[in-house]
Amino acid sequence: MDKLLITGGERLNGEVPISGAKNAALPILCAGLLTGGDVHLTNLPLLKDVATMEKLLNQMGLRMQVSGDAVTLNGSQINCLEAPYDLVKTMRASILALGPLLARFGEAKVSLPGGCAIGARPVDQHIKGLQAMGAEIHIEAGYIHARAKKLKGTRIVTDMITVTGTENLLMAATLAEGETILENAACEPEVVDLANLLVAMGAQITGIGSSRMTIQGVDSLHGAEHHIISDRIEAVTFLCAVAACGGDVTIKNTRVDIMDVALDKLREAGAIVISETDSIRIQMSSRPKAVSFRTTEYPGFPTDMQAQFMAMNCIAQGTSHVTETIFENRFMHVQELNRLGALIEIEGHTAIVRGVDKLIAAPVMATDLRASASLVIAALAAQGQTLIDRIYHLDRGYDRMEIKLGALGAQIQRVS
Ligand code: EPU
Repeated sequence: MDKLLITGGERLNGEVPISGAKNAALPILCAGLLTGGDVHLTNLPLLKDVATMEKLLNQMGLRMQVSGDAVTLNGSQINCLEAPYDLVKTMRASILALGPLLARFGEAKVSLPGGCAIGARPVDQHIKGLQAMGAEIHIEAGYIHARAKKLKGTRIVTDMITVTGTENLLMAATLAEGETILENAACEPEVVDLANLLVAMGAQITGIGSSRMTIQGVDSLHGAEHHIISDRIEAVTFLCAVAACGGDVTIKNTRVDIMDVALDKLREAGAIVISETDSIRIQMSSRPKAVSFRTTEYPGFPTDMQAQFMAMNCIAQGTSHVTETIFENRFMHVQELNRLGALIEIEGHTAIVRGVDKLIAAPVMATDLRASASLVIAALAAQGQTLIDRIYHLDRGYDRMEIKLGALGAQIQRVS
């Protein structure tokens, strides 16, 4: 099993390109199931979850021609309507095959994802929405069995804002009969990116980017070309690393307009942040100042950036309060950060982080994707050599992270 060996204390300098967004790429790959035409995608990130999704869709008969960060999907020969447990258990986003399969083929069998490290994460809202559209769904032996001769448009109000839930229902609604209104829809940029692709494929959607999307179902969708949106979470991970270690870094191929909250927090922490249309330069010459925040849905502070900012807060001047409202168990990095000398206490949904002068290297263990990123940031800022175990979590969602950090001057090495 691979580990990362990091010798902390180096300032970071240079330029780093940001890859396509994992959380846009995963639903977008599933959108390939909706048509028999060619869907050409560019800016596909090279990471484990994308490979897992490709494997799953391949098993269903979706053909793929990959060339670097480009892929052409063709769904004219789908011959299996099942997402098996052995793949779904490794990647919850497999649930995103449910809506497209059901809408186009009238049938789907998808394993229930089960709980995961950051929380219970049920998929009841996906099921509720599809049932409202007329699907017959029963759960048996850990599988969701769904059938519908033709889904019917309706008004769906989800109990809470759910990102993949919105994406699943949106894809299903594109081929339903009549009008579907999705209320309480997620407004995340990755949902917008998927919706834009669907429109390019011939879907009729209004209200994209708002909490109320209206979809007029069409008989069929066609092929399209699409450039996947840049990964705002990866971008912020690098920005937090610079804020924690000091340095002068420009991140390229990014989208400044979807990161307002994070950029404001970095400025509050004392960084100089200069943004151009598709690049952001960050300069940090002093110890960061502690910043408090509360995670919430877009356009609020993303839960996927919580751990990275917490790592920066560990060595900041002052005390911060970090409140997690999306997932009930997303503080697993706290104990590991404390092993590096951080002073963090958890009270309910809030972590109280008392900034320390320095972190000291120690062996630590990654527990989930963004927790791994926070350990990398803390290790880069710590004195001495830190060994991070179980980095397969990191590989699920980051595209060649150690290579990108190494190019910025970080002492980081993958060891087996
Ligand atoms: N929820 C339910 N029932 C549902 C759906 C969601 O109770 O049917 C709850 C969840 O348990 C959670 C909240 O609603 O407490 C929000 O969950 P959401 O459905 O929005 O999360 P998700 O769609 O499973 C996506 C991202 C996550 C990201 C969250 C929140 C993808 C593939 N995953 O998950 O990304 O944290 O939205 O923004 O898009 C990551 O990249 O590290 C990651 C975990």
